[in-house]
Amino acid sequence: MTITTPNTPLVCPVTGATADAPPMRPGGPAPLVTAAARTAPFTERYLLDPAVNADPYRYLNSLRDHDPVYWSAMHRAWLITGHGQLMHCLRDPAVSAERVGPLMDAVPEGAREDAERAFAILSRWMVFNDAPQHRRLRQVFQEQFAARTIGRYRAFVERATRAMLARRAVPGSIGDLVADIARPLPALVFARWLGVPQAHGPSFWYWNARVGDLVLGAAQEEREYRTSLQSLVNLDDYLADLVRQRRADPKDDLISNVLAGGRIGTSVSEEEFVGMLTQMAFAGGETTSNLIVNCLLALLQHPEQLAAVREDPKLVPMAVEEAMRFDGPSKMSIRTAGEDLDLDGRTVRSGDRMFLVTAAANRDPDRFPDPDVFDVRRGSASHLGFGFGAHFCIGAALARLVAGAVVDVLVREYPGLELVEQAHTWQLSLLNRALTALPVRY
Ligand code: HEM
Repeated sequence: MTITTPNTPLVCPVTGATADAPPMRPGGPAPLVTAAARTAPFTERYLLDPAVNADPYRYLNSLRDHDPVYWSAMHRAWLITGHGQLMHCLRDPAVSAERVGPLMDAVPEGAREDAERAFAILSRWMVFNDAPQHRRLRQVFQEQFAARTIGRYRAFVERATRAMLARRAVPGSIGDLVADIARPLPALVFARWLGVPQAHGPSFWYWNARVGDLVLGAAQEEREYRTSLQSLVNLDDYLADLVRQRRADPKDDLISNVLAGGRIGTSVSEEEFVGMLTQMAFAGGETTSNLIVNCLLALLQHPEQLAAVREDPKLVPMAVEEAMRFDGPSKMSIRTAGEDLDLDGRTVRSGDRMFLVTAAANRDPDRFPDPDVFDVRRGSASHLGFGFGAHFCIGAALARLVAGAVVDVLVREYPGLELVEQAHTWQLSLLNRALTALPVRY
């Protein structure tokens, strides 16, 4: 999802972050910095500064070294960049995931009347709920996302990957890996896994993209908000209908399998189930595309690592995991302090926003030796690219399966695969790490 056009006002409705004059910290002046932090020269930069967006790691490293728990007046948020501090936040029940309120506050006056139903749907997304609600909602999906259940789709994913590559990536030809494979393949797999008939794909993915605009901050104008809010309502109506159909005539897909679990209508209402389904494709589609692209970019930019994976394909899953750490699709998660809390000797006040910058924590030298080195043998299991704790990505096994299948075939069966351009454009986004295109020779 993008906040791409240069004229777009740099405001993110998820976070409210702006590039305008730094406002005062809610609850008082900025806390005093530590003695260690005072010694290093550090100049704060806006995270949506195009140069920072293009290469976030240099700046994030300096921010973390300066102060891993930093109050940013510029972003009106705490920027948490240390691995230990970030894990602490994700464990602490005082740190709340509820953020539908701020999203709603950002809707322009003229689009408010459309917003009520859309925000009721968003409030059912498990990612915006805290315990005990969150646990109740997540439980109905748990079994269907377990690695052993997802493993049943391996043959289908591998077949779909080979078929798509055969059609769209002829060896020797030049193409765009994003448009040719990385975007359409996860879309195809997720639609099948969720139970969306192929014929409905275009509207289904259009609504998902517009919902992404709302949640990730690309919708800025009133007209864009209206489109996004209406798309969420359309998606909810569509999925409610699909749930009714699958109840009457079950198939082998996520919706039917969760219904068969017997919890819908008891521990979770059908309305809540449908609301959660509206999150699934949005949460998994683009992120998985970006994992495929970022992993292949890292491999192609590190020929010795690519050669190691070619020699020993058992390294493919490790390469995917290392790409999650080194340059993963998600740069941060957003939270709010539900009550006052102490973090590294600082008082984070109730209501303060917190940017948990996982992209920085994944390069923390206290956790990962030589963190700026891409090393497929690292075994980077403790990266935070899928989050951590109660909200750990429920779709991680599916993302790993799909990304692993694509990387495996491209690495093993395309010995000539190479970059045809050295400079790349990253979508301007606070949350996502996404290339606009990746031109390659197949
Ligand atoms: C490489 C691909 C993916 C990445 C990088 C990713 C990243 C994440 C992250 C960082 C979180 C935690 C958010 C937070 O704590 O605020 C999360 C949660 C979530 N993800 Fe993923 N995700 C990916 C794929 C998927 C897929 C394929 C699905 C489903 C089809 C999915 C569904 C979800 C859901 C439902 C949550 C919320 C879990 C909860 O709140 O308990 N994700 N994801």
